[in-house]
Amino acid sequence: MSNWKRYTITAALPYANGPVHIGHLAGCYLPSDIYVRHLRANKKDVVFICGSDEHGVPITVSARREGITPQQVVDKYHKIMGDAFKEFGISFSIYSRTSSETHKQTASAFFRKLYDEGKFTEQVTDQYYDEEAKQFLADRYIVGTCPVCGNENAYGDQCENCGSSLSPTDLINPHSTLSGSKPVLRKTKNWFLPLDKLQPKIEKYIDSHKDWKVNVYGQCKSWLDAGDGLQPRSMTRDLDWGVPVPIEGATGKVLYVWFDAPIGYISATKELLPDTWETYWKDKDTRLIHFIGKDNIVFHCIIFPVMLMEHGEFIVADNVPANEFLNLEGRKLSTSKGWAVWLHEYLQDFKDKQDELRYVLTSIAPETKDSEFTWKDYQTRVNSELVGIFGNLVNRVLVLTDKFFDNKVPQSSGNPDLSAFLAEQHKKVSDSLENFRFREALTEVMNVARYGNQLLSEKEPWKTIKTDKDLTAAILYDGLQIIANLAILCEPFLPFTSKKIFDMIQIDAATLSWTDAGRTDLLPMGHKLGKAALLYQKIEDEPIQAQVEKLKATAQALAPPAPAEKTSKKMEESTGPKAEITFDDFAKIDLRVGTILAAEKVEKADKLLKLTVDIGYEARTIVSGIAEHFRPEELIGQQVSVVANLAPRKLRGIESKGMILLAEDSTGKLIFAIPKISTENGSIIR
Ligand code: MF3
Ligand code: ZN
Repeated sequence: MSNWKRYTITAALPYANGPVHIGHLAGCYLPSDIYVRHLRANKKDVVFICGSDEHGVPITVSARREGITPQQVVDKYHKIMGDAFKEFGISFSIYSRTSSETHKQTASAFFRKLYDEGKFTEQVTDQYYDEEAKQFLADRYIVGTCPVCGNENAYGDQCENCGSSLSPTDLINPHSTLSGSKPVLRKTKNWFLPLDKLQPKIEKYIDSHKDWKVNVYGQCKSWLDAGDGLQPRSMTRDLDWGVPVPIEGATGKVLYVWFDAPIGYISATKELLPDTWETYWKDKDTRLIHFIGKDNIVFHCIIFPVMLMEHGEFIVADNVPANEFLNLEGRKLSTSKGWAVWLHEYLQDFKDKQDELRYVLTSIAPETKDSEFTWKDYQTRVNSELVGIFGNLVNRVLVLTDKFFDNKVPQSSGNPDLSAFLAEQHKKVSDSLENFRFREALTEVMNVARYGNQLLSEKEPWKTIKTDKDLTAAILYDGLQIIANLAILCEPFLPFTSKKIFDMIQIDAATLSWTDAGRTDLLPMGHKLGKAALLYQKIEDEPIQAQVEKLKATAQALAPPAPAEKTSKKMEESTGPKAEITFDDFAKIDLRVGTILAAEKVEKADKLLKLTVDIGYEARTIVSGIAEHFRPEELIGQQVSVVANLAPRKLRGIESKGMILLAEDSTGKLIFAIPKISTENGSIIR
């Protein structure tokens, strides 16, 4: 293991706007935890830093959606996320948050130093401003028609329909999601990091790290080599949620969330070690490593290092082992679409099965390319590998030792083959871990268990006991040493399992370290063992099926009304030509423009709403079958087309006089068939 004096390991600060799911765990938190546990087992000096990212637009968007304040959002999720990490044994030295006072001070001071030393450039740009809400609009708060595909609900930074990335001024007919009003362009001053001028410095840094993972190094190069190279990037935003910009004349502005959040790593270290934090961030002998997902690469490999270099007192990352993405059952994980496995829900459904999930997610970790989690695969891996190989070995060895040798470690004169094998495995696992190849490392740990099982099936101690007690003692002695080795080697990956094994073999884990793995005398002869218990239980089909169904049900509940396929079929059915009518037939219909004045549900009728509609010359009662499509309160003020001379009908005891016209849009959503320009009530439609 290389000769760094100490380690600062960071795991991306997750946005505190939703719970943590398996994608987060597989991409960032498990690999970092495994790495840190390995360092600690080697008695290295290490801090493992994480916390909630509590600023930025994602938080304010969630707050609006949930109808609570941003502070309430972050308080809620900070707790849920912190608890989930703890339950899964993610062993942060500290799980802090960027709304802390220490962080505010640290981030402000950092910005102020760069500002005072003239490291920023000032630029005045045009930004959309909402005159009703009296604030500048973040890209996410502007919605309009996508210039590429015509989707009317494209965001200022992206169209989710066609995937185009946009800038707010690209949108046709933009409007503010805060007030609905049309935003105006206003001039605003912000402070930029001149990445264009700093490009040579960054290039030198990236080029000195050709050892980084291919996916990481490649992404950095493509940013650097892009068309005009790096562009200046604003480090401040016109927003009211965040760390206030600490300079005069900057009211209403906060630090860019990607400026403040990574400084959160430093603030958290300060909170953890008020007296010695600086050695973890400023001493050249400290190795700084950022664990992140691939969407964070540019921020951790380019922007944050530049900030640190410009500041001047800090070390920069020596490695950034970013992972790719994990998919779920054939689709991209998505919080908003409900396509995810949430850690807190997993824990409710699979009690005490943290290591099972840690095992599967490490086995399929998206280390070099995107990978996929399916419940069926989870079941197979748990049953055939953890239950069938690992658990089975531990159980058989302990049960047989109890039966034949009174639960004491029997005598043996040693087995050089086993020593050589274990020493080699120890080295393989260590090498893989040091090179961030966690899947491979875990496979090599499992190979130790496989070896143990093979030993038992070849030597058959349950048979030899009848003829040769010494031989049987030697076999089980080896089996026990293998188990003790596994307890050490599996600890970074399966900490709960490791602890259980140590309990069963009655050894204090603290008395052994990583370098003890490979030894064949970990358990001394005559040592009294504890009670054997099953490490894992077989997972049946039922709970697996239930998970798949739950996933589909959640996604369905959050999906837009009718799936496109069904709609187009329905359209075909309903849009077929009807029988011809004469002009006189048509002229008989009295079509009028009206405005809905009141709307209420009709008792005991799920589909019906009772509407009061102003059609110019009178207010009418019309009962309409749209209760499943609109909430009553959202209809007030809506203009509609009305068939005014339809013969009155009684529906649920209410006399309905007339009908309103509706059409279905391409997603199956009902829209009011009405001329776009608002018209006077009572106007005749012809
Ligand atoms: N909150 C970001 C995300 O979830 C990650 C921030 S990492 C930090 O993508 F370095 F900025 F803290
Ligand atoms: Zn589009």
